[in-house]
Amino acid sequence: MFISFEGIEGAGKSTQIKRLATYLESFGYEVLVTFEPGATHFGASLRKVLLDTDTQLTDPVAETCLFIADRLEHISQVIKPALDRGAIVLTDRFLDSTIAYQCGGRQLSEASLQPLFDLILISPDLTILLDTDPNEGLRRAKARAALDRFEQENFSFHERVRSTFIDIADRSQDRVHVLSVDGLSIDEVFESVKIVVDEKINRR
Ligand code: TYD
Repeated sequence: MFISFEGIEGAGKSTQIKRLATYLESFGYEVLVTFEPGATHFGASLRKVLLDTDTQLTDPVAETCLFIADRLEHISQVIKPALDRGAIVLTDRFLDSTIAYQCGGRQLSEASLQPLFDLILISPDLTILLDTDPNEGLRRAKARAALDRFEQENFSFHERVRSTFIDIADRSQDRVHVLSVDGLSIDEVFESVKIVVDEKINRR
């Protein structure tokens, strides 16, 4: 079982993933928690350059290629081996982030990037989209640490990212489950996460 968590910065993905991992492990499942970009040694270098505010990139397709390269190594070194041995894999971001940030945020056409997306041969069984208002998400991201290259983008960039995630959810309703997190506590969000994941596991 392969589950991705998606959403703009500050939506609380990593907190929910940690809680879900502990919950699933309590039933005896092997759980692998991972993330993009940067989960492999190779990817860590890409993450550094992608998030560094000093990085000068003029062609957003180049940026997209780095995220795809990170993902290909992530799949072959981390995700695929874990799925093959029967683990449940929880990832903080996957391909939907590239569609939301590079097609939505950077305004690249999805059709032009489709050949790159076709290189990604696995898809999550379930995606949980934690939806939050960008004002809220960015406020939380700012409180956490210095802003990275994406967090520094203007507000309309983040609004486009958010609405692209919602578009993806609308056209992939079998896979993507949207949870609105604004005004909810971590516990309340986790109750909903549990319901969605339990149902998916029980259906298998
Ligand atoms: P992440 O470490 O998940 O940031 P955060 O914890 O703040 O949510 O991701 C780093 C940034 O990379 C994030 O701003 C989203 C961006 N990103 C893309 O633009 N495209 C992608 O394909 C991925 C995976 C991430």
